[in-house]
Amino acid sequence: MDTLLVTGGAGFIGSNFVRLALTQGVRVINLDALTYAGSLENLKDLPNADRHVFVHGDICDRELVDALLEEHAVDTLVHFAAETHVDRSILGPEQFVRTNIHGTFSLLEAWKKAWIRAGEPAHWRFHHVSSDEVFGTLGPDDPPFCETTPYAPNSPYAASKAASDHLVRAYGVTYGLPYTITNCSNNYGPYQFPEKLIPLTVLNALEGRELPIYGDGQQIRDWLFVEDHCQAIWAVLERGAPGRTYTVGGDNQPTNLKVVQTLCALLDELVPGSRYVPHAQLIHFVADRPGHDRRYSIDVSRIGEELGWEPSESLATGLRRTVQWLLEHGSWLEAIRRQPDYQNWLNRNYDQRASQLSEGD
Ligand code: NAD
Ligand code: DAU
Repeated sequence: MDTLLVTGGAGFIGSNFVRLALTQGVRVINLDALTYAGSLENLKDLPNADRHVFVHGDICDRELVDALLEEHAVDTLVHFAAETHVDRSILGPEQFVRTNIHGTFSLLEAWKKAWIRAGEPAHWRFHHVSSDEVFGTLGPDDPPFCETTPYAPNSPYAASKAASDHLVRAYGVTYGLPYTITNCSNNYGPYQFPEKLIPLTVLNALEGRELPIYGDGQQIRDWLFVEDHCQAIWAVLERGAPGRTYTVGGDNQPTNLKVVQTLCALLDELVPGSRYVPHAQLIHFVADRPGHDRRYSIDVSRIGEELGWEPSESLATGLRRTVQWLLEHGSWLEAIRRQPDYQNWLNRNYDQRASQLSEGD
C-alpha cells in the first residue's frame, strides 16, 4: 500500500480510519461529499497532515473519480461513503439506493478501468466496508453471524448495503478485481454523529431531554469500538486474502436499555453537579422502529485465526472513553446541535414516534 483513496473519510468511521492510515505512513486521498453526516471538523489535527488530500466530491461523479485515480496513482481503495442511518432509510430510502448501490457501482467501474489500465496489478485492493445488518436478525438461540450466514436484509439501508456487497463480489468473480469485504457490527466512539443511539443519548442527557428507547428496549446489538474496527480493516488490507470476507464485532451482547442505563450511570459519575442526576430518570419508551432487528451477534473466529485481530476495548472501557471524549468535545457537539438539519431530523423522527405511541394507548 502506498496511496489510498478513502471514500467517506469525513464521516465517523472514515475519519478515525484516516487518522490510523496517516500514522502508518501512507498517502490518503479523502473523497467525501460532506453530507449532513460528514464534517471537516472531524479532520482537524490529523497526524502527518501533509500526506492527506481532502477532495469535496461525490462518489457517483465518474469523471472526478477517474481523474483522482489517475492523478494520484492510487493502489488501494477503502470504501466507507454511504448513507448509514436505518431510521432515515425508512423515512426516505431513495438516497440510500443512489449512494449505496449506484455509488458503489460507479466506483467499481472507475476502479476496474484504472486497474486494467495499470496492467491488472495483483497487489491492488478494493476494500468495501459493510454491515452485519445484511444478515437480518437473530432469534435468542441462533448462532452468531459469520461469513457464511445467508443474506436477509430487513431495512432499506440493509438492503442497499447487501446490494453493494453483491456488486463488489461480482466484480471480483467476473472481472478478477482483487477485493475484500468486512461486515461489522454497531460502531461507537469519537466523532460519531449524534443521531445514533450512544451519542444521541449522551447529548440528550446533557441537555435534560428525554432518552428515547424504541419498543421494549430489549433489542441486542454487538458494540464495536471504532478504533478496534479501524485496526481490523488495516489487518485485512495488510494480510487479508483477496476475495475474502470477514465479520467483525466487539464480543458483547447488551440490550439497548442496558447500554442507555450504563451511559446514564457514567454521566452521573462524570458530571455529578448536573441537575439531571440521576440521568436514568430521563429514559422514555417510544414507538418501535418498523422491521426492527431483534438481535445481532458476531463470530470473529475467522479474522482472529487468520489475521490475529481481536477487539482491545471492552464495552465498559469503550463507553467510558466515548463519554469522556464527548464531554471534552463540547464545541464539536454544539456545532452539530445547532445545525437546522439536525433539529429537523429530531423533530421528524421523534415527534412521529410520540404521536404513534399516543394513538396506540
Ligand atoms: P457516517 O454516516 O458517519 O459517514 C458517511 C460519510 O460518507 C459522510 O462523511 C458523508 O459525507 C459521506 N458520503 C455520503 N454520501 C456520499 C457520496 N455520495 N459521496 C461521497 N461521500 C459521501 O457513516 P459511518 O458510520 O462512518 O459508516 C461508514 C461505513 O461503515 C458505511 O459504509 C456504513 O454502512 C458502514 N458501517 C457503519 C457501522 C456503524 O455502526 N456506524 C457499522 C457497520 C458498517
Ligand atoms: O449493525 C451495524 C449498523 O449499526 C450499521 O450498519 C449502521 O450504519 C449503524 O447506523 C448501526 O445501525 P443501528 O440501527 O443498529 O444503530 P442505531 O444507533 O440507530 O440504533 C442502535 C439500536 O438502538 C437499535 O436497536 C435502535 C435503537 N435506538 C436507536 C435510536 C437512534 C433506540 O432505541 N432509540 C433511538 O433513539
